[in-house]
Amino acid sequence: HRHLLGIEGLSRPDIEALLDLADEAVEVSRQVEKKRSVLRGRTLINLFFEPSTRTQSSFELAGKRLGADVMNMSVATSSVTKGETLIDTAATLNAMRPDLIVVRHHHSGAVQLLSRKVSCSVINAGDGSHEHPTQALLDALTIRRNKGRIDGLTIAICGDVAHSRVARSNMILLTQMGARVRVVGPSTLLPAGIERMGVEVHRSMESGIRDADIVMMLRLQRERMDGAFVPSLKEFARFYGLDEEKLKWAKPDALVMHPGPINRGVEIESAVADGPRSLINEQVEMGVAVRMAVLEALAQNLPNS
Ligand code: CP
Repeated sequence: HRHLLGIEGLSRPDIEALLDLADEAVEVSRQVEKKRSVLRGRTLINLFFEPSTRTQSSFELAGKRLGADVMNMSVATSSVTKGETLIDTAATLNAMRPDLIVVRHHHSGAVQLLSRKVSCSVINAGDGSHEHPTQALLDALTIRRNKGRIDGLTIAICGDVAHSRVARSNMILLTQMGARVRVVGPSTLLPAGIERMGVEVHRSMESGIRDADIVMMLRLQRERMDGAFVPSLKEFARFYGLDEEKLKWAKPDALVMHPGPINRGVEIESAVADGPRSLINEQVEMGVAVRMAVLEALAQNLPNS
């Protein structure tokens, strides 16, 4: 592969190979001396049209740990504010001869479009409500390291599924890897036709997380809603917010995940987010490792390799 645009298109062996590489990257990242040279002399540009804490910083650290020069494009102070288009911005950066561009954009499909206009490798860091492939890979790595497998697990993805590229990439990856995937939420937050993704649909948390091995909460994405939100925040928190009481419905050894950033007291209570069954901080650590693995895998197919 030259680009990573989505989980769609990756085979199970592709995913397993990336997770194996990421396991090695975890070991590298835990050493005092973290620097490797796979990307020495290469240039990586982070181009984020939407805010990010985890994804942008972990791509920067991953690139640097592999020896690349990393440039973070500041979109808010760029000529995008003067009306320069996505494609013109991409062509401009491409003329500076980067080897990799990591892109986050608010429109589904924007990253794929950009990938056709540049000569370097492109990685999707989240496009609209379409895909966030490295998030799904880091979630899979976190699950595999904690449960020893993905195949056969029951994984409940809960909350704002409709607006979530994280949910979409995870549904594709986890079903591909043999997990039994459930989505849980009010009808207003479940996209039409979601059953076609090969998942079970639940409208109550009690049935949705019953006997689950993993409870994955999603952020309520109010920036993707048109102001109106049904149910109200208070009702949503009451019926779908994960607290210690609801978590009792899951398996006794169930673990809790959330891609972050979290809305405390909305989709997840602090007692759960900060509790002993939360994998949230481990997911962040795995994020750097997975991005190192993706960069290393793409390094073999970069222009001029
Ligand atoms: N999970 C995730 O993508 O977080 P950021 O928006 O902070 O990158």
